[in-house]
Amino acid sequence: MPTIDTLHELLKHELKDLYSAETQLIEALPKMVDAATNGNLRNALDKHLEVTKTQKERLDKIQQLLGEEKAAPEKKGFFANLFRSNEGEEHCKAMEGLIKEGNSLLGEDMAPEVTDAAIIAAAQKIEHYEISSYGTARAYALQLNLNDVAKLLETTLNEEYDADISLTELALSNVNLAAETEEQSFAKSAKKANPKTVAKTAKKANTKAPSKAVKKAAAKKSLPKKAALKKVKAAVKKSSPKKSVKRKTVKR
Ligand SMILES: [Fe+2]
Repeated sequence: MPTIDTLHELLKHELKDLYSAETQLIEALPKMVDAATNGNLRNALDKHLEVTKTQKERLDKIQQLLGEEKAAPEKKGFFANLFRSNEGEEHCKAMEGLIKEGNSLLGEDMAPEVTDAAIIAAAQKIEHYEISSYGTARAYALQLNLNDVAKLLETTLNEEYDADISLTELALSNVNLAAETEEQSFAKSAKKANPKTVAKTAKKANTKAPSKAVKKAAAKKSLPKKAALKKVKAAVKKSSPKKSVKRKTVKR
């Protein structure tokens, strides 16, 4: 591994890491689309797959601007090709871990609505990692007066924010409400049934019997779906970080 002595070298390292992250994500997203049941979620993930492919091409362009070779040189050796394929010189362990964690959660026995909620959570963890990495890379580029590079990184950064906001909207709207309904119906049936039978069934199904808090929440009359959605959308709009980020990017 070459030594990293300057901020310029650190930026190049960060970009190679991001190249690997995007490559791994391009491979993982179709599996997430297949596992999702909600149509809007499937569309959002499909859309982000296309955006991610463009982001990878953008990283190639950045590498060229920096006078680097294309970030995906041929790897020698069977195992190198098998594991690194077209990822480039670096392998992003963080992205590998995030994808692995998402996959292992999806391997659990879950109701379809809950699976969708889990996919959103996994996708948002990935987005947050990318937002952090692109934000850092962009800051390095600005410090190094590499304005063209900074601009390209900012474009991707804003796309990652857009994806995160879409996922938040989905999480707070119909997807998680559907998962909540699933939980409530379980809590309601559990309340009606004999507690001993519930505990036994839960043990058999390798799930926990609903807690007191869950039963209490289920007993409460929930907001009508439309009203809940309206409330959620207003909250998301109000707390959207995108505008403040754009304001910050203008100041720098
Ligand atoms: Fe990305």
